[in-house]
Amino acid sequence: MHFTVEAQNKIRSHIESVRTCGPIVALDGTAGNGFDTCFLAELVGKEGRVVAMDLQEDAILITRNKLEALGWLERVNCIRDCHSNAQRYLEPHCGHGLNVAMFNLGYLPLGNKEIITKQETTLAALNAVFGVLVENGILSVLSYPGHTGGSDEHVAVEAWIDQVKKHARIETYRDENNRLSPVLWLVFT
Ligand SMILES: C[S@@+](CC[C@H](N)C(=O)[O-])C[C@H]1O[C@@H](n2cnc3c(N)ncnc32)[C@H](O)[C@@H]1O
Repeated sequence: MHFTVEAQNKIRSHIESVRTCGPIVALDGTAGNGFDTCFLAELVGKEGRVVAMDLQEDAILITRNKLEALGWLERVNCIRDCHSNAQRYLEPHCGHGLNVAMFNLGYLPLGNKEIITKQETTLAALNAVFGVLVENGILSVLSYPGHTGGSDEHVAVEAWIDQVKKHARIETYRDENNRLSPVLWLVFT
């Protein structure tokens, strides 16, 4: 399974199937190479807004360049900051709440593998974002237990998902034959 494509497909079909109030607002909590941000920029359309965050300047530059080439830069606020501060950047756009959030955890492929998402800031970001998701919103978290440094974060996110199950519907995707398989969680509010 290609988990990043699966996440995008599930998000697209969910958003197409629900009625949204006002323009669609989306967050990419880990912009990286910009693939998810570009997907979200297309999804929200001309009226919508995406906030795309990454700790690394390189990731923000790559993402901005891709958006510019596609003519979607004006739909996206590209922010170099930790996603635990997401609420601050979402607030101006979140009159009706947040419709979509994506977190593809871990490191920047082809980049510095020492800069990885960390359990404490990931959980802070997930809590903040979950709190502003609209009814019929969707949050995706793609976690990599097999990556160096990814295991502790994975366990923490799994525990967070377990808590969230009381308030939201969860779908889980993984390769059951591989104990180190990435895990994709979709949270439906
Ligand atoms: C797997 S990549 C994301 C891939 C991306 N969604 C794409 O479509 O190409 C993970 C990214 O998370 C970023 N990151 C790590 N810690 C972060 C943090 N605390 N806040 C925001 N971004 C962070 C890394 O710099 C890296 O670019």
